[in-house]
Amino acid sequence: MGTKRPLALVSGANRGIGLAITTGLARKGVHVLLGCRNFDQGEEAAVALRPEGLQVWPVQLDTTDDASVAALAARITRDFGHLDILINNAGIGLDYDPSLSVVQRMERTLAVNVVGTVRLIEAMVPLLEKSDRARIVNVSSVLGSFGLRADPSWAFADTKMPTYQASKAALNSLTLSYADRLAEKGIKVNAICPGYTATAATNYAGSRTPEQAAVVAITFALIDGAGPTGSFADDSGNLPW
Ligand SMILES: NC(=O)c1ccc[n+]([C@@H]2O[C@H](COP(=O)([O-])OP(=O)(O)OC[C@H]3O[C@@H](n4cnc5c(N)ncnc54)[C@H](OP(=O)(O)O)[C@@H]3O)[C@@H](O)[C@H]2O)c1
Repeated sequence: MGTKRPLALVSGANRGIGLAITTGLARKGVHVLLGCRNFDQGEEAAVALRPEGLQVWPVQLDTTDDASVAALAARITRDFGHLDILINNAGIGLDYDPSLSVVQRMERTLAVNVVGTVRLIEAMVPLLEKSDRARIVNVSSVLGSFGLRADPSWAFADTKMPTYQASKAALNSLTLSYADRLAEKGIKVNAICPGYTATAATNYAGSRTPEQAAVVAITFALIDGAGPTGSFADDSGNLPW
């Protein structure tokens, strides 16, 4: 499975924005490992891209599972020996689930959006260190921005998703911490917001397509050496933390 193309891993890539990021990166010549909890669903998504000749390969990945993450790191080490791009896209929002208490929503959301991201980054850093152009992109949300939430005239000022918002604020904080920690290794770490997008997560209510949402993540995955690290941005430019 060795490759001379840039090698990317996208978490939560079997559907929605993650699949669109995977497809867009592959169309730019990147060899993409399509992370999926359910391998069959990942394989189904990857097979649909094969007629285009895209280099997209499903890999089992549950970011809440130590064994799943460790097995994937071992496999990438064996097959490639490095990783160039890590897209932390896997994410959930449970604020509107009436079957869960607030504490359950918080615990489960943090487990995926925050602890799962940390688990995956920690496992992949040794592989990213082997790349001379490593990039990490954290798929965050404007809903986690303190600066925007402080503005009562902001378009999403009335959105009340406390556990999701806290999780994305934590992800933003981790973006700054990892950007600082990994700077001397040349690994750039940025957070992006894909915008309000029609996916299963929004009951397809968002105004953007997954393809539109993927553009900013792809841009930050492919930034050159002069590009930023420790930034938070969407299609329009930098966002307030
Ligand atoms: N849609 C929006 O408007 C919007 C706006 C801002 C930010 N975002 C962010 O964009 C990202 C993608 O969201 P989406 O709208 O594309 O949602 P989605 O369609 O619900 O996709 C979420 C993906 O994450 C995966 N996932 C969930 N838990 C996981 C775990 N423990 N390990 C690995 N993968 C896991 C899901 O896998 P399964 O299929 O197995 O469940 C799925 O592939 C999320 O981080 C979300 O917070 C979305």
